Amino acid sequence: MSSRDHETCILAIESSCDETAAAVVLDGRRVAANVIASQHELHETYGGVVPEIASRAHLERISPVVNRALTDAGIGLDRLDAVAAGIRPGLIGSLLVGVSLAKALAWSRGLPFLGVDHVESHLLAGLLDHPEPPWPAVGLVASGGHTSLYELSDPLESRLLGATIDDAAGEAFDKAGAMLKLPYPGGPRLDRLAEQSGEAPEIELPVSLMKRDSLDFSFSGVKTAMLYAIRGTPRREAGRTVFDRNAEDLDARQVAVLATSFRHAVVKALIRKTHRALELTGARTLLTGGGVLANRLLRRELEELTRTLGVQLRLPAMDYCMDNAAMLGVTAHERLIRGERDPLHTTALPTAKRTR
Ligand code: KG4
Ligand code: ZN
Repeated sequence: MSSRDHETCILAIESSCDETAAAVVLDGRRVAANVIASQHELHETYGGVVPEIASRAHLERISPVVNRALTDAGIGLDRLDAVAAGIRPGLIGSLLVGVSLAKALAWSRGLPFLGVDHVESHLLAGLLDHPEPPWPAVGLVASGGHTSLYELSDPLESRLLGATIDDAAGEAFDKAGAMLKLPYPGGPRLDRLAEQSGEAPEIELPVSLMKRDSLDFSFSGVKTAMLYAIRGTPRREAGRTVFDRNAEDLDARQVAVLATSFRHAVVKALIRKTHRALELTGARTLLTGGGVLANRLLRRELEELTRTLGVQLRLPAMDYCMDNAAMLGVTAHERLIRGERDPLHTTALPTAKRTR
């Protein structure tokens, strides 16, 4: 970038879970660099994210990742207007790595620091690289930790419409993957298996739809149904729960049918409630975000739903669905142009802003 052709140039840093990421975002919409270092291989043997391993890996990777983002964008620190970091929710030891670096950089360069919300930012990922949509919008976030619907009157004003009362959709996918003995994380593996096998969803797994007008989700029932479909209905024997089968007894076709049926059930619940939220609010835009939005069936079904309703769909590119820093740059830009900034004593928080 030889001349200044933008209003804001923000360096954003993400370290809330098991991705170390940095991005340079112009005007909160154009991505000049987006670097993501995943730690999945470090956690695979444990079947889930180990917080101590995650924070140590963030410490090792954060400086090279930030340097790479600045190099990719072709800028030095002197070109930045602000430094942002995801401040909540997440693993506290991991969040602190990104937040501390962002605050140190902001302080050393005399720049504004912005600590932004990770879940809100997932929703705004769909604004990247696209023209501005009409507001108000409905927002669907589906990730490993959250599954919620919002109504947004503008990028920063959101009202919670509904949320999961138990597992998040991504968590349910990961647990179903583990039941089928697929490697961690189960969500993308189960999706790939269902996609490649071409099997039909032969087994009708129950989808809890709560009350008709409720915009809440529940995925614990479909998870239990999946367990029984894999291992048979359990019996009590001498005070113990006994199953007839193990996942290892299934052949490849049975595994593919179960993966397809599970994906179908979860996607159906997400689509039904999103449809209802669009009907109830009359919104003409659907913003979406979070790792589960990488699911290919969900993407197809959302495209179909919004085409039928004449609603504009903002479906983030795959790299902006998973945890990434570019999405944080959108939220930080919106706050910065409204004159907002956060004091350097602001610290990371493990909890989400709005839970049930
Ligand atoms: O947004 P994200 O990267 O991290 C959180 O903020 O949680 O989401 C990760 C979640 C995991 O549960 C992962 O299994 C799920 O998103 N996921 C998928 C797919 N890709 C990632 N779930 C279903 N289908 C996929 N293709
Ligand atoms: Zn996330």
